Formats: sequence, C-alpha cells, structure tokens
Amino acid sequence: MQCDLNGVQIAYDDVGSGRAVVLIHGFPLSRRMWRPQFSALQEHFRVIAPDLRGHGESSVPPGPYSMDTMAEDIAALLDRLSVSKAALVGLSMGGYVSLAFCRRWPERVSALVLADTKAVPDTPEGKQARDSMISLVREKGMAAVEEIMLPRLLAPATPQAKPDVAAEVSAIIRAAHPDGAIGALQGMRDRPDSTDVLRSLECPVLCICGEEDALSPPPVAQEMASLARNGRVEVIPGAGHLPNLENPHAFNTALLAFLSGREV
Ligand code: MLT
Repeated sequence: MQCDLNGVQIAYDDVGSGRAVVLIHGFPLSRRMWRPQFSALQEHFRVIAPDLRGHGESSVPPGPYSMDTMAEDIAALLDRLSVSKAALVGLSMGGYVSLAFCRRWPERVSALVLADTKAVPDTPEGKQARDSMISLVREKGMAAVEEIMLPRLLAPATPQAKPDVAAEVSAIIRAAHPDGAIGALQGMRDRPDSTDVLRSLECPVLCICGEEDALSPPPVAQEMASLARNGRVEVIPGAGHLPNLENPHAFNTALLAFLSGREV
C-alpha cells in the first residue's frame, strides 16, 4: 500500500488485526527485512511496516532525513490509519527513529523494542565514517556499500550457513536508492543523544541483540536496558546485526513473549 504523507509517498504493509505493532527497518534496508516477522505476528497483532522515506518503495525526497522527520512520517501514517497507540519495534536505524518518536509522542507508545541499536549519538570517528560512506555512495553507488556493509551486518557464519539470508540482504541493499541512503546517513550522523528519552520512558522496553552483532554488541543492549525504568534484554544466538533474519525463530519467540505479556 502507498499513501501521501508530509509531501512524501510512503509505502507500507498493514496486515492482521488487534493491537498495533509498528516495525521500523534499519539502514540501508526496507520493510522487506521484516518478512519473517509478518507471519509470526499477524496472527496476534495488527502489523504495520513502513518503508522510511528514501527507502524501499517510498519516494526519495531531498535529504537530509533527520530521525525526527522519519518519526513524523510514522506519526502521520498512524494518524492516517487511525492508530492512536502502538508498540514500536525498531532495528538499528529503526531504533533511532523509534527513540525520536518516543521523545515527541511517549503517550502513543505502549511498548518499545530496541533491536541492535544504540541510544547514544555517533562519536566524532563515527561521524567521519558517515561522511566517508556518503562519498562512497556518491562515487560508487550501492554495490560498493553492499560490499562493505554485508560482512558487518551478518554474523561471520551466516553467509555460509544461511546463503539465502545473505542473498536477500544483499539484494535489498543493492535495490536501495543512493540519494535515499545519503539522506539517511546524514540524518544518522547528526542524530542527538537519546539516553534521556530512554530514562524517561514509562512503557516496557525490550532490548534485543544478536549475540555476534559487531555494530551494536550485547553490552550496548544491556546498558540501554539498564537505563530504562522497565527494561530487559534478550540476546539472540547465531545472529549478528540482523537477528530477525538470521535467527527468526528465536527473535520471534522473544518478540511475541514480550508483546503478548503486555497490554500493548
Ligand atoms: C542500521 O543497520 O540501521 C545501521 O547499521 C545503523 C547505523 O549505521 O548506525
């Protein structure tokens, strides 16, 4: 489905019924990454998964895309779908967007799942790495990004053990629009510290993390969970930065247990 929001065409899926759960994808991916979660969740929940602006099948307006702007798109989508309150599940960049949403609209969030993400901003070195990646996208396009990012996103064993997962992630990255990727990289580079948001949230928070995540490793998830008033951690074995794809069974089990145990 597609709708016009904040001057941008946003593509999304809206399946199942009941309490709403919003799945917010990472970079440089799209809602396609949530395929293993749709079947598991839609039996119990209304599952809403947008392509963030500049990603997937959504349109590609000029950047930068701040995390706030992408959170505003989510809020507008929920308004359009008459959803006043939802559980947010954000993976990596989706986690940054979820925290930006929580800063503005904490009353609309019934539960928060932060998967393989961080509440802290980029370090000075991290910001430089974003600028190098922006130059790489400009000069060489998404194939070069895929070459660098794929090994960082997946656990070392995944490409051999699960070649279909590696192929799917690779295809999503290669299909990404370079201008969209640049807009998101600028937005991530400039995102603010969200640890204050995490501290102030009253809703339950689950921090999920792939055991072998090299980008946001388990101690980062532990730290986030300890900052939240009502937080806990779930480490997913046999997975790197994309546990929802690398070990969907364990990821879905943890997610369902968390979401079902609450009035989300
Ligand atoms: C992501 O998976 O969304 C990115 O790795 C996030 C980031 O680069 O900070």
